[in-house]
Amino acid sequence: MGVLRTVRSVIRFKKPVFSPQKRRLSKAANVGDLRLIAKRRLPGGIFDYFDGAADDEVTYTRNSSDFDKIVFRPRVLVDVSHIDTTCSILGKAYDLPVILGPTGFTRIATSDGELAVARAAARLNLPYTLSTLATRSIEEVGAASTATKWFQVYVWRDRGIVKAMLDRARDSGFTSIMLTVDTAILGRRERDVRRGFTLPPKIGLDTIIDGLRHPRWTWDFLTHEPITFANVAEHADKDGGTAVSLSQYINDQMDPSVSWEDIAWLRANWNGPIIVKGIQRTEDADLACQHGIDAISVSNHGGRQLDHAPSPVSILSDIADTVAGRAFIICDGGVRRGADILKALALGANACSVGRAYLYGLGAAGELGVDMAIGMLRDELRRAMALAGVRSLSEVNRNLVAWRNP
Ligand SMILES: Cc1cc2nc3c(=O)[nH]c(=O)nc-3n(C[C@H](O)[C@H](O)[C@H](O)COP(=O)(O)O)c2cc1C
Repeated sequence: MGVLRTVRSVIRFKKPVFSPQKRRLSKAANVGDLRLIAKRRLPGGIFDYFDGAADDEVTYTRNSSDFDKIVFRPRVLVDVSHIDTTCSILGKAYDLPVILGPTGFTRIATSDGELAVARAAARLNLPYTLSTLATRSIEEVGAASTATKWFQVYVWRDRGIVKAMLDRARDSGFTSIMLTVDTAILGRRERDVRRGFTLPPKIGLDTIIDGLRHPRWTWDFLTHEPITFANVAEHADKDGGTAVSLSQYINDQMDPSVSWEDIAWLRANWNGPIIVKGIQRTEDADLACQHGIDAISVSNHGGRQLDHAPSPVSILSDIADTVAGRAFIICDGGVRRGADILKALALGANACSVGRAYLYGLGAAGELGVDMAIGMLRDELRRAMALAGVRSLSEVNRNLVAWRNP
């Protein structure tokens, strides 16, 4: 009798979960877990395109591991019954100091691609940045999402193409542009080299075998319209419709001579905030301020460009001292935990931008996975704030953190 009573009091049957996506996500506790699910679900070449970085991936690794070199200096006996993560980004109020950064060719994770991420941004009240090399067009994203939308600019050799994209972005409700300045030529992502990765993926025997091992991805890929660089689709033969390696495409199309003088051209053609993405030295942060730039993104392109560039978090405080309030500062790279966001803010960032964190979610379970990835960062940030004795982002300052001795 006693045994039965004890068994009855402890036994719990889980409700069955019928959605395969929800079932897949049910065991994920953090963004790292979403990465592993995405790795299982996507063909190897696709996962490596998202996950990989330049050369030895030293910068890629340090972007995240440098966050681990920072310790919190928590305060105790602070009333943390209300935690406030709201903030202002370029004059607008948001629920979290997080921006969904630009990622090219998002549709190879799932057919909705950029639309899924932009819709998630609207639900989460976060800005979304559409890449020039997106696989859903400016107009499609403009219509699909009520989020604040920014457009990431690569400067084409033909400025007419850039001008046309800026006009389209303005007409589709995009409010800011983000000029990426670390891509004069494309870094060498050796995982892509080894796999012979092209955009769109070439269908060879190895792709077919990989596709058979990932039937859900393959079905989604084959039953939707072909993937192209949707924003430049009208420029025949340069639209990604034919398989090319990404580096060949970028090196053919982008202008490696872009310099600070081109900022004036952008100003003349864009009536709104300009963000410069890819600042890695105090001198360039200062120049950006002198050129009237509204925001800088301290970034090394997620380690995909110059290997051995410094991690954003390691140079943030020097850059924040140089900028001294003249521009909004975004920390871009390596964020995998809410605590990383809190550390970046303590060192002088005003917000963080994420790339892979949401891509892992997208690869793991589409739009739901993006919601989940950002939800995890949000919950972790709130928990880290409460445990560190910080009630609102306005209370975050350098006293909150210290660099751990080696
Ligand atoms: C698959 C992938 C594609 C990317 N495409 C672009 C792009 O088209 N334009 C751009 O400015 N940055 C691009 N980035 C860089 C991201 O915007 C961002 O700088 C980087 O992902 C930040 O590092 P994280 O992934 O560790 O968050 C890309 C990054 C990844 C992972």
